[in-house]
Amino acid sequence: MSLKVAIFNHKGGVGKTSLAISLHEQLQKQKGSCIVVSNDKEGISEEVFDFYHYSEDVRDFKSDAEVQIFDFGGFTSKDVLDTIAASNVVIVPTLDDLNSLQSTIDTIAEIKPYNDNIIVIHNQSKEDTFVEKVIAENFDEEDVPVLKVRHSKIFQNSLLEGKNIEEIASSTGKNKFVYRNIIKEIKDIAEAVSYFE
Ligand SMILES: Nc1ncnc2c1ncn2[C@@H]1O[C@H](COP(=O)(O)OP(=O)(O)OP(=O)(O)O)[C@@H](O)[C@H]1O
Ligand SMILES: [Mg+2]
Repeated sequence: MSLKVAIFNHKGGVGKTSLAISLHEQLQKQKGSCIVVSNDKEGISEEVFDFYHYSEDVRDFKSDAEVQIFDFGGFTSKDVLDTIAASNVVIVPTLDDLNSLQSTIDTIAEIKPYNDNIIVIHNQSKEDTFVEKVIAENFDEEDVPVLKVRHSKIFQNSLLEGKNIEEIASSTGKNKFVYRNIIKEIKDIAEAVSYFE
């Protein structure tokens, strides 16, 4: 059985690609093979990560990988909604500013009829923010759970260096210490995702 994970939010810059790449690394380890497919022409390329593919029509992208992660640009199309409907789980990353949150509420409302397995990721989280409160006001917490990913330079460095985050986090003793929490947060999301297989 293959696991399909869609990552979607209409809002740009909320961490869809960063999560796709860091989840790839965990799920590849867990399940043996994993690829990322994106419909975003302007996104990162296979030259940076050989597991990252662009496809004009993600729905028809053929792969033997055990896990497929879909990193969608912010636009909805029939192709995107069909792929969301065929996915085991949909991850909706958000930041805590009001624009992102409004977009997140709209995005969840739009995709819920197609797939009810939704996990919100409160990305770049700091203490005392609105994400959990606003999601809780709009949805039942058992229906739309929220996980956190803290703010960390590791994502930027991952893209700049073309290295996965665990490679960066294990490269020196200091990095092991500094990045221990962010690695744990990403592992928790990978574990949450694998429940939906
Ligand atoms: N937890 C985080 N901490 C710090 N920086 C982050 C974090 N997550 C993402 N970023 C940074 O935020 C920027 C946007 O992230 P990313 O490209 O993953 O978002 P996106 O939703 O894929 O954007 P787009 O809509 O343009 O495709 C990048 O520079 C990335 O390095
Ligand atoms: Mg992106």
